[in-house]
Amino acid sequence: MNEKPKMDEKLYFTSTRASQLNFARHPSNTLPNEKMIEYKLEAEKRFGNFLFVPLDIPVIKDDLFVEWYWENAKPVKKLNSDVATRRTDLESFVSVDVAEEGSWVFKQTNPFQNPWSLNYRTDFSKLFPRLTEQLYEYFPVKTLDSYAIWSSIESIPAHRDDAVFLDFPSSFRIMLHDENPAPTLFVEEYKPNNNVPVPDTKKYVPRLDDTNSFVWNNLRSRHGSDYLGNRKILVLFRYFLLDWEKYFSLMDRSISKYSDHCLKSNLTLNDFVKIEDDML
Ligand SMILES: [Fe+2]
Repeated sequence: MNEKPKMDEKLYFTSTRASQLNFARHPSNTLPNEKMIEYKLEAEKRFGNFLFVPLDIPVIKDDLFVEWYWENAKPVKKLNSDVATRRTDLESFVSVDVAEEGSWVFKQTNPFQNPWSLNYRTDFSKLFPRLTEQLYEYFPVKTLDSYAIWSSIESIPAHRDDAVFLDFPSSFRIMLHDENPAPTLFVEEYKPNNNVPVPDTKKYVPRLDDTNSFVWNNLRSRHGSDYLGNRKILVLFRYFLLDWEKYFSLMDRSISKYSDHCLKSNLTLNDFVKIEDDML
């Protein structure tokens, strides 16, 4: 894409992480601020060096959904530049975006500031109750306020999402459907202000018999996908309130069950953000 660097990434990661450590505006959050910061720092300490982890969650699947999706997904238009890309002429995906009628996300989001156009369906949980229940049953969330179901229609260069810059894996994904002969979605570690990846860290999301859910660290890694003309459908969690105890136990289980498939970082948090000595 030949984009010139538009910002000092390390400074951007530092200030975004600092504000996300203190962010507590979710309407369902009942945790005192200090407790929430404590959980976030504990997650960074325990899981910061995991770039990618397959999750110990049974295969999420609904064959009826797949046909419905192709009939209802709409092209996503890039409306504004963001950390993922400054370009606004892209139509790289089709999507269905899910949120409940009356959800706070409709009150909080200014559609003109959103980097992507949205194709919200507020009837999704009624159309696919079992699929929706599975998300709440297995994923470590107290509320899942909005998620996107995307299918890429061209190759996606390695990028970070305009999402979480805390140092633990929290970019949840489910590969709901994939017609490719081999995996096409990858994760790779990149230091800030550096377009050369850390050697030997590129990992294609493995196909496992017993799970199609996984999570990656958006601070330390970029992700992208190859497009070979075949259809795939990926769920990405956008707004959710984490259930911290459930998250810790899911991560512990997943790391021990899928130790051969995890991708680990040999760098430290200091390589990605500037932290004061007293925060270490
Ligand atoms: Fe992305």
